[in-house]
Amino acid sequence: MTLAAKESRKRVFIRTYGCQMNVYDSDRMADVLRPLGYALSDSPEQADLVVLNTCHIREKASEKVYSELGRLRDVKVERRRDGADLMIAVAGCVAQAEGEEIARRQPAVDIVVGPQAYHRLPELLAEAERKAALRRAGKRLPGAGVLDTEFPPESKFDHLPAPAGVRAGSAFLSIQEGCDKFCTFCVVPYTRGAEYSRPAQSVLQEARALVAAGAIELTLLGQNVNAYHGEALDGSTWSLARLVRAIGEIDGLRRIRYTTSHPRDMDDDLIIAHGEVPQLMPYLHLPVQSGSDRILEAMNRGHGRDLFRRLVDRLRDRRPDLALSSDFIVGFPGESDADFDATMQLIDEVGFAAAFSFKYSRRPGTPGAALADQIPESVKAARLAALQALLARQQREFNLEKVGMTVPVLFAEPGRKPGQILGKSPWLQSVYVEGPASLIGSIAAVRLIEAHAVSLAGEIVPSLEAAA
Ligand code: 5AD
Ligand code: SF4
Repeated sequence: MTLAAKESRKRVFIRTYGCQMNVYDSDRMADVLRPLGYALSDSPEQADLVVLNTCHIREKASEKVYSELGRLRDVKVERRRDGADLMIAVAGCVAQAEGEEIARRQPAVDIVVGPQAYHRLPELLAEAERKAALRRAGKRLPGAGVLDTEFPPESKFDHLPAPAGVRAGSAFLSIQEGCDKFCTFCVVPYTRGAEYSRPAQSVLQEARALVAAGAIELTLLGQNVNAYHGEALDGSTWSLARLVRAIGEIDGLRRIRYTTSHPRDMDDDLIIAHGEVPQLMPYLHLPVQSGSDRILEAMNRGHGRDLFRRLVDRLRDRRPDLALSSDFIVGFPGESDADFDATMQLIDEVGFAAAFSFKYSRRPGTPGAALADQIPESVKAARLAALQALLARQQREFNLEKVGMTVPVLFAEPGRKPGQILGKSPWLQSVYVEGPASLIGSIAAVRLIEAHAVSLAGEIVPSLEAAA
């Protein structure tokens, strides 16, 4: 590349908050921007365009965005002083939920784009650049940036370029979006919209392209991924189990994962697939939120604790070594000590290998926010601490059980110390070993030698390396 060409290259810095769906979306935004000449940058200071791909799930997550925007405004002001500019875009769920509010609170924002509209980024960017140039020339324009928070009738998936998001042998693949469940604490049905499954053929095509680009692991994503019901070429409807089986036939693909599931959509076929599809990893993230029937009802989860218990039994019948992970919320309005004890008891009975747990966060516009009997912060904090202590103990026990085993590890990145590499076991545990960086992106056999709270130490078993 000549110096001139190098200089004309534009840079985009994308910061991702929240879930894996956002990680996937960020990759796709990079894909959309690449043909416009945008290469990825490691910092806002070196970028011409900054995209914050935001999360609205809890108050803390969305407030972070505003403080980051304050910092970016300062960079922009400095840039303008030098006669240049910095374009600022807010994407994702905060953009969807608070579009106008963002522009009002932070006028330095040039673009607000919702999760269903980012395939239109090139047009939005052109429009925003035009406006910015006029402003720099001293024109006064009404309104702030450019806003697109529509749920356009065309699917963004039909308008996105081929994916380039394979990192160290692993890639996300979005197959379903949105949610119709309306849990009373959750903003997702409002920010991501109604449930939508991508057609099976288009998912399969993308899966093959990702494998051809070097992926040996695919994680299928959706807010309600096991509610997947994609149209197939012959007009029939494929379930997630059917799709997983078809993806399992792609040559060279070694691992399949999917997230996030809902207990109500865990059908027989999917449970059976866990025992039959060798690539399907023995790990399932199945959020239960609470162990109290009364609270589950108030959350509008559509199932009680018994259904969850039965599901776990049936899954473990098919796949005895299945590692279970879940999400928990403490301090939902009206949660009594007895309700909380019921959650602790459920955790005790089931045994989790990993978990995410949160204090209930009151989200404007959700039915939960209007409920009487909101729980004081101090009570939430005490319950969360007790719950996390129990879950941490279970995670450590789960890790300990694996010590002494030799397992395949997919290496993803360098470890914390020089000479170390870090990867994932089939049960999604972090495993670090002394090993060459050349193994990153591939699977090697590792003997697990020591368990820690959230990781395991291991050593590569050379003779098995090829067989793993
Ligand atoms: N407060 C706390 N946690 C929440 N979650 C979703 N909405 C809220 C909220 N208002 C948690 C749920 C969900 C996970 C992604 O985030 O546990 O499964
Ligand atoms: Fe939110 Fe409930 Fe839908 Fe999950 S199932 S995305 S928690 S509304």
